[in-house]
Amino acid sequence: MMRRTAPPNLMVVFGASGDLAKRKLLPALFHLYQQNLLHKGFTVLGYARTEMTDEVFREQVGEALREHYADEHGETYDDAAWQRFAETLFYQTGGYDDHAAFDALAARIAELDAAYPTQGNHLFYLATPPNVFEPITALLADVGLAHASGAGWTRLIVEKPFGHDLESAQQLNDHLRKLFDEEQIYRIDHYLGKETVQNILVFRFGNGIFEPIWNRNYVDHVQITVAESLGVGSRGGYYDKSGAIRDMVQNHMMQLVALTAMEPPVTYDAESVRNQKVNVLRSIRPLDPIEVNKWVVRAQYAAGVAGGEQIPGYLEAEGIPPTSTTETYVAWKLEIDNWRWNGVPFYIRTGKALPTKVTEVNIMFRRPPLMYFNSREARGPRVHNSLTLRIQPDESIILNFDAKRPGPQLDVEQVSMDFVYSSAFGDSTISDAYERLLLDAMLGDSTLFIRRDETELAWDRVTNVLEGWGIQEEILRRRGKTLPLPQYAAGTWGPIESDDLLAHNGHQWHEPVLSEER
Ligand code: BG6
Repeated sequence: MMRRTAPPNLMVVFGASGDLAKRKLLPALFHLYQQNLLHKGFTVLGYARTEMTDEVFREQVGEALREHYADEHGETYDDAAWQRFAETLFYQTGGYDDHAAFDALAARIAELDAAYPTQGNHLFYLATPPNVFEPITALLADVGLAHASGAGWTRLIVEKPFGHDLESAQQLNDHLRKLFDEEQIYRIDHYLGKETVQNILVFRFGNGIFEPIWNRNYVDHVQITVAESLGVGSRGGYYDKSGAIRDMVQNHMMQLVALTAMEPPVTYDAESVRNQKVNVLRSIRPLDPIEVNKWVVRAQYAAGVAGGEQIPGYLEAEGIPPTSTTETYVAWKLEIDNWRWNGVPFYIRTGKALPTKVTEVNIMFRRPPLMYFNSREARGPRVHNSLTLRIQPDESIILNFDAKRPGPQLDVEQVSMDFVYSSAFGDSTISDAYERLLLDAMLGDSTLFIRRDETELAWDRVTNVLEGWGIQEEILRRRGKTLPLPQYAAGTWGPIESDDLLAHNGHQWHEPVLSEER
């Protein structure tokens, strides 16, 4: 196999003094550097409003690295290597809508291009709040940085949130397309950088035994759970304007649905893979906003204990207005109207303050036509053979099926066979998602990035839900009432309404069993 190493380039990180840059991006770059995956001509220029020298920036990044590196990368950090890497980091202070500051930025970039062998390749990363995406990119174009001048390339990575509804996402896309070519734009969704998410396609299309049964003839329904045990913590200001559907469903969960449901691509390249994902998103039946309650459940957490921590209710969290109706939990029954999946519900759920942090895709297979082996468990209408793709935290693939319990009588019990990444490949082989994505962007591989039509289709379906909720709230407001938003105690699996959503079809949520509990 050819080793994928990055070409020389200068990466400019907007929002360099923020949490994402310090906790995720720079540690990921450092880890790439340690694995010799970056070119000698690699340089980083951090840009933000906070006044700082290069030295202070290096110190701050170093501090964040010492604090979090072991958690994120499963190994302690090597100080000597860090000192060498730190020399390639620079910092520039400036506003995001200040022309003079961008002239200074352009001059600094030219200086670094001359001093380091970057070959004029520039990667701009928007790691700022979304309200400055437009001014930053407009100014980049104004000062002549949107396109490479010589033989080099210029690319732009855009962090989430990419819009807050269909209209704003379209507007942002229109704005970016006036300044950049679509091939230059890398909309990031860090879930696509996760090894286990990439493995969904390898598992499905790299093996002969699963794909033949991956369809409506054999699959009864599909469940996708993205659970977090933490509450909103100190991110209330951002979260309250977003809610679970914008924060998690529009992006990460829609991507998981697309990868689980898509047809095989013609070849494994960016356009073919994304064409197939787009076909899935297009096939998701648009819901009538008036019927939103039939398909979607939302709820907010109340105080409780989750993941061993006492969590105050959402309304008591920092920065949350006491009358907030922002959802911290969503469950949605999706219908995919295509040849493969017609009639197979896809139930997706996500929430904060749930019992544990776990992400998994469960393929629930049809039951046999006759259930001979009556036992307490097997008799119920809900026992299915199932396949669990455990995305995190204990990355694995688990096949659940029935077996005869040894003994003189015929007792049947559900058992499992599993493949565990850490046993097969060792403990520290799973890199942080950002590493893979940063490397891909430097290599010009956009397979794991979101194309314009993907983000807009996902927003289209989510916007139907938002409209439905808006209509409900408006009706109540006119009657002088407030929304009776279902509550769930922190540390439970969401509101009863979510169970009802499945019970309606004779289904129930598959409760994740983590490896230490198996
Ligand atoms: C982010 C959301 O995109 O994903 C956060 O904004 C969430 O609210 C996070 O906590 C979850 O990511 P992961 O990789 O920890 O599952």
